[in-house]
Amino acid sequence: MGEDRAEHRVRSGIDPAADPYQDLDMFQQPPPSSDAAADLIATARGRRFGTILADPPWQFQNRTGKVAPEHKRLNRYGTMTLDDICALPVAQISAEPAHLYLWVPNALLPEGLRVMEAWGYRYISNIVWHKVRKDGGSDGRGVGFYFRNVTELLLFGVRGKNARTLPPGRSQVNLIASRKREHSRKPDEQYRIIEECSWGPRLEMFSRGTRRGWTVWGNQADEDYKPSWDTYGYNSAAVAAE
Ligand SMILES: C[S@@+](CC[C@H](N)C(=O)[O-])C[C@H]1O[C@@H](n2cnc3c(N)ncnc32)[C@H](O)[C@@H]1O
Repeated sequence: MGEDRAEHRVRSGIDPAADPYQDLDMFQQPPPSSDAAADLIATARGRRFGTILADPPWQFQNRTGKVAPEHKRLNRYGTMTLDDICALPVAQISAEPAHLYLWVPNALLPEGLRVMEAWGYRYISNIVWHKVRKDGGSDGRGVGFYFRNVTELLLFGVRGKNARTLPPGRSQVNLIASRKREHSRKPDEQYRIIEECSWGPRLEMFSRGTRRGWTVWGNQADEDYKPSWDTYGYNSAAVAAE
């Protein structure tokens, strides 16, 4: 906090003319940690987690390496490169056996699988989030150059032996149908599913806000987190107030 965009660029050695984020309001948010790996290890305090949920700040790039304009416009926080995400020492803070739930945008499925492998997990399955309107129909307000996306994927991977889900997992369908809230906010239904199917201790990476029974990590993982941009009327603050 407190650092303005120009200062951040100078500190990061970014040529202002080449700054792909110059139109974004990401600097309203705390800047990314300069040493995310050390920060993650410090948060773990020597514990190894049986379950990790992660929703990384993916960077969307086209073939020429440029950030796609629709994502430039929509991004509300700093992003991390694929290499930086892969380099996070997740294996080091994972128990054996352990479960990983990893959100990945449809366009970045191959990258999601790479991250899962880099973190020491093997892909098993996924849970699909179908974004629906109040009347239950698909909510088509999302982006999509080829198709209008109304789903997102929560990849599920495991590490170690005897890593099956807990008994409720066997009757848990791999679908969440719920309404969208603010930009990139994931559905709260995920927590009940994960808590029933996977053991603790539990860590949420790139969390916004805190959650009882979970260790949280991320540069917006504080108790009084609220979205700082215009959002849908149906958002997490409004739902919490209902
Ligand atoms: C996709 S959002 C997570 C959304 C969250 N799962 C939710 O449902 O609201 C990614 C988060 O990662 C945070 N972030 C970005 N760069 C980071 C970094 N270098 N270290 C830690 N957190 C970072 C962003 O501020 C944002 O809160």
